[in-house]
Amino acid sequence: MILPWKNQQITFERFMDFCLYDLEQGYYTTKQEIFGPEGDYYTSPYTHQVFAYCLADAFVHYFQLLSRPGPFHLVELGAGEGFLGRDILTRLQDAHPRIFEGVNYCPVELGEDPPEGIHGIVFSNEFFDALPVHRVRARESEIREIYLHIDGGISELEGEVTDPRILEYMKTGFREWKEGHEYEVNLKMIEMVEDLDRRIDSAFVLTVDYGYDWEEYQAIDRPQGTLLCYHRHQVVTDPYANPGRQDITAHVNFEVMTRTSEKLGWKSEPLTTQRVFLHKWGLEKHLENEEARGILNPERLEERLGLKTLLIPGGISDTMKMLVQQVRV
Ligand SMILES: C[S@@+](CC[C@H](N)C(=O)[O-])C[C@H]1O[C@@H](n2cnc3c(N)ncnc32)[C@H](O)[C@@H]1O
Repeated sequence: MILPWKNQQITFERFMDFCLYDLEQGYYTTKQEIFGPEGDYYTSPYTHQVFAYCLADAFVHYFQLLSRPGPFHLVELGAGEGFLGRDILTRLQDAHPRIFEGVNYCPVELGEDPPEGIHGIVFSNEFFDALPVHRVRARESEIREIYLHIDGGISELEGEVTDPRILEYMKTGFREWKEGHEYEVNLKMIEMVEDLDRRIDSAFVLTVDYGYDWEEYQAIDRPQGTLLCYHRHQVVTDPYANPGRQDITAHVNFEVMTRTSEKLGWKSEPLTTQRVFLHKWGLEKHLENEEARGILNPERLEERLGLKTLLIPGGISDTMKMLVQQVRV
C-alpha cells in the first residue's frame, strides 16, 4: 500500500480509514479472501449455520412484538458477503414462511445508506469494531490524542484532541482512566447510532461484537488499549505492519453505545455473551437437529470443526457480546 501523506501529521482515525476502506488500496475494498480458512480470521457466520438459525428464531419473536404487522425491514449493517443474511432468510423460509413472506432484507455495505422509515430489525455482526477510531493517551489529568507523523516511516506523537466529543466519550465510556494508558474513541459509532435513530420508525436493534461495558474496562489491564490486527489467522499488535493487508479492529465501547442511544430514547436489555444468547434462542434444539441430520458422519467433519470454532469454551461465543435494544417499540 502507498500512503498518500508525505511529511504530514494525521489522526489514527484517518490512517485506519485509509488502510481499511480506501477504494483503490483498502483491506476491505480490495482483498479477495478475508474470512474463513484461506483468509485472515473467522466471524461467527463463517463457522456454522446454527448461529444464523438462533438469530432467526430470536427475530421472529421480535417481529411479533412490534406494534404493527409486516412488511418488516431486516437491515444488516456491514453485511460483507451476505452469508449471515442468506442463512437467516433460509431459516425464516423453512420454519416461519408467513413471516418470511413479509420480510424485506436490506444489506448495507460501504458507501450505502440504511433505508428510511425502518420498521423491523437492524442487526450487525462485527460491524462497529471495524469502524475507524481515534486513539488517545491519558496524561495526568489530561487526554492527549495520538497522531501519526508520516515521513518515509510512521512515528507517533501526542497533541491536543481534534474533536471536543472525544473528552465527552472518555467520561461516558471509561469514567476514569489510568496514567499513560491508551484508549480508542469511536466517534463514527456515535454518528451511526444517531443516523439510525433518524431512519427508524420502530425497531429492535441487535449488535453482536467484541467489546466491554465500563466495569469491564476498569477490570482489564490493557495499557495499549484494545486495538488488534489480524493477518493470516495471527494476531498482530502493530497497526503499522502490513498496511492495507491486515484487518484493524478496536473493541466496541458498549457503555458509550447504550448511553448515547438511551439519550435518544432507546431501551437496552442487559449486555450478554453470544453463548448466553444462543442458548436462549434454541441452540440445543438446533444441535439435536444437526445430529439427527447426520452431522456426526465422517464426510461432515469440516462442518463439525466449524461448530467447534463457534462453541469451544473461551472462544468466539464467550468473547462476543450481544446487545438488544428497542427503539420506539
Ligand atoms: C468485520 S467485517 C464483518 C462482515 C460480516 N458482518 C461478518 O460478520 O462476516 C465489517 C464489514 O463492515 C463493512 N463496513 C465498514 N464500514 C461500513 C460503513 N460505514 N457502512 C457499511 N458497511 C461498512 C466492511 O466493508 C465489512 O464488510
